[in-house]
Amino acid sequence: MRKPGLIFILLAFVTIMMFQSCGKEGGNRTNISQTGGTSSHKMGQNCMNCHNPNGEGAGWFNAAGTVYTADSSSTYANVVVHLYTAPDSVGNQVLVATINGDAKGNFYTTESINFGSGLYPVVVGAHGTRYMAATITQGACNSCHGVTTGKLYTL
Ligand code: HEC
Ligand code: HEC
Repeated sequence: MRKPGLIFILLAFVTIMMFQSCGKEGGNRTNISQTGGTSSHKMGQNCMNCHNPNGEGAGWFNAAGTVYTADSSSTYANVVVHLYTAPDSVGNQVLVATINGDAKGNFYTTESINFGSGLYPVVVGAHGTRYMAATITQGACNSCHGVTTGKLYTL
């Protein structure tokens, strides 16, 4: 009666080991956009559809999106995105995160961001700055922009 028990334990062990080594391909690692960078892709898509713990994207993003020119005719290279605790008009806002967008118009970061009760996004272009009037509690910008509201743009 002992042998079947041992085999069962061995099988359970092997199953657990297989389960553990079956990590998702992308895995988490540092993946942060930089001014002039060109390694990103899939402009306009919701990056977090794949760059999440259950997806195949390289690195799990906490904030990411794509910025376009005002007429949406092309992406906007090298923007700067800030996340603040309060709207610009208040004056006592705290800067929680800054992400430098790349040459393809994408910005993304795997750095952890404390969204707290909500943060106000700001997108800075070479000729103008755009403010989101409402707060966000998650950073998948392209899950709304280009889907339920206009594409992100700046001047
Ligand atoms: C459909 C799934 C999918 C979507 C959507 C997606 N990615 Fe990816 N991404 C991947 C996969 C898979 C890889 C790794 C293989 C590769 O480079 O294609 C990757 C790799 C990358 C890399 C390269 C990392 C390196 O090793 O240099 C960057 C940067 C990146 N993605 C940014 C983004 C951004 C920004 C968005 C949104 C605008 C996005 N991705 C949307 C699946 C996706
Ligand atoms: C939950 C949905 C949602 C998410 C997520 C979201 N936004 Fe917005 N955003 C909106 C809506 C709705 C507006 C208002 C659109 C308008 O003014 O007509 C807006 C407006 C803006 C504006 C001002 C208008 C414009 O397009 O220039 C900026 C800038 C902006 N968002 C940046 C961001 C950034 C950056 C992120 C990600 C860090 C983000 N938003 C995530 C819904 C969202």
